[in-house]
Amino acid sequence: MERMLSAIKPTGRLTLGNYIGAIRQFVKFQDEYEMYIFIANEHAITVPIEAKELRQNTKDLIALYLASGIDPEKTTLFLQSDVDAHAKLGWVMTCMSYMGELQRMTQYKSKTANGETGITAGLFTYPCLMAADILLYDPKYVPVGIDQKQHVELTRDLAERFNNRYSDTFVLPEPLMTTVGQKIYSLQDPTKKMSKSEENPKGTIDLLDPPAAARKKIMSAVTDSVGIIQYDPENQPGIANLLTIESALTGESIESIVARFEGKGYGELKKAIGQTVFDFLTDLQARYKDIMASGQINEVLQNGAEKANYIANKKIRKVYKKVGFTITK
Ligand code: TYM
Repeated sequence: MERMLSAIKPTGRLTLGNYIGAIRQFVKFQDEYEMYIFIANEHAITVPIEAKELRQNTKDLIALYLASGIDPEKTTLFLQSDVDAHAKLGWVMTCMSYMGELQRMTQYKSKTANGETGITAGLFTYPCLMAADILLYDPKYVPVGIDQKQHVELTRDLAERFNNRYSDTFVLPEPLMTTVGQKIYSLQDPTKKMSKSEENPKGTIDLLDPPAAARKKIMSAVTDSVGIIQYDPENQPGIANLLTIESALTGESIESIVARFEGKGYGELKKAIGQTVFDFLTDLQARYKDIMASGQINEVLQNGAEKANYIANKKIRKVYKKVGFTITK
């Protein structure tokens, strides 16, 4: 079985974008691949976050992974900080990277372009830690939304550089993106990514939003003055985003949804999608509550950490030998 690995960082509440662009893929692929999914909590402190909030976000994220259908019998589910090898290989990868290539990462560039102050060195070097996260497990594929594609490509470059410098050590991973929903956009500004850190909460649907509030956000989503329901992301990004959400959550193709709403108004389309989102969140949150109450999270993480450490430690031992840290043969 080929391997697949991915992660989400617990910086805020998970969004519908995280579900559609990432978690949905994890669930779909866990039957076909040997799957490793983790909570990237070491990445979460690249921006200031209180310990209490990080703890809560972490628990929520695990429960939402499980509620979404990630099965710990099939998937190794773990916490990044439970596996020391991530930080160890992260340092090696930091020393394999050039300042210039990290400065070209679009996420970093957009933060500095906004004139944000207080950017930490950790935020600058986080793609190196992400490369380590991936390379420890030799996955063939890394399912991500389009905003993370560049980081997976950097990971390939770093793996290749290491392999050339020291000898074959790492598998070169490939980013894997869904056809529908690589990037879900803000409901208030459909040219911007729907994001955990968006200032306007009306633009983002949190997976833990009350379902009725989420429906309201869909009803007040920004559209356009064209007035025709068709899939035209260039000229009608708001409608295209809504059609993508409906398609991703129901499995119905975009063409079929467009045909179903031929001649109808935006209000009707929004009502239908609002209902889809309402039903989806209602089911998901019922499972989330059961999982939070069940106390199974600790056991899942303990088992996951054991399996992940086994693989990751083997790899870090190899790396330590190759770079010359280990002085015995
Ligand atoms: P993060 O936590 O920002 O996002 C987690 C996943 O969700 C996807 N995503 C979206 N997809 C579609 N539409 C959106 N609006 C949207 N917003 C987010 C992201 O592309 C991602 O797949 N650095 C990573 C976490 C990470 C990681 C890794 C991922 C750490 N180590 C190793 C893969 C492999 C991050 O910050 O993702």
